[in-house]
Amino acid sequence: MNIVIRIATKNDFTSIQRLSQELTISDSIYDPILVKDWAYSKHGIKYLNQRITGKRCICIVAEVDGKIAGYTTATIMKPISWRPGKHVEMENLIVDKEFRNQGIGAKLIEAFFDWAKKVKADFAEVHSYYNNERAQALYKRSSFVPLFVSLETKLI
Ligand SMILES: CC(C)(COP(=O)(O)OP(=O)(O)OC[C@H]1O[C@@H](n2cnc3c(N)ncnc32)[C@H](O)[C@@H]1OP(=O)(O)O)[C@@H](O)C(=O)NCCC(=O)NCCS
Repeated sequence: MNIVIRIATKNDFTSIQRLSQELTISDSIYDPILVKDWAYSKHGIKYLNQRITGKRCICIVAEVDGKIAGYTTATIMKPISWRPGKHVEMENLIVDKEFRNQGIGAKLIEAFFDWAKKVKADFAEVHSYYNNERAQALYKRSSFVPLFVSLETKLI
């Protein structure tokens, strides 16, 4: 299996959009209010295009035999005065079901770290749903350590 990790181009948009939709569907197990077709909405299209072509962000894809098997997006965060340093955030990470458990997720994270070093970031962060143990296990293997816990209550 020939895995190529590279920066996404505009030509990858449709494949990334399909995977982004898969990610929302997968995340809705943990968060049922998610908008399932967000990747195809005006905001979703704008977000994905911005990550592919924008300056302070990146979209990285894994290509296996010509097929986009996974992607991640990342951005440089706005400075926070009470938490100094340059922070970057890995936002989306998904590997197509048929390509999982072959190290592609870990390779995408490595490529994210390479980009983070290139933009001279001091800290990299990633957010996960509390019960997404598989993703958290992968992040921990890739050197992330838990920092925040976010809690929510339903008021309606
Ligand atoms: C989380 C996710 C991105 C992981 O992607 P992946 O490509 O399967 O990740 P990796 O292959 O690098 O690692 C996963 C497992 O494969 C194993 N593995 C890594 N390299 C391997 C290889 N060369 N051969 C076989 N297994 C391998 C790892 O040990 C790991 O084991 P685990 O079962 O204990 O987790 C993927 O499951 C996914 O897309 N999930 C749905 C979306 C999601 O939850 N995204 C994260 C949102 S926060």
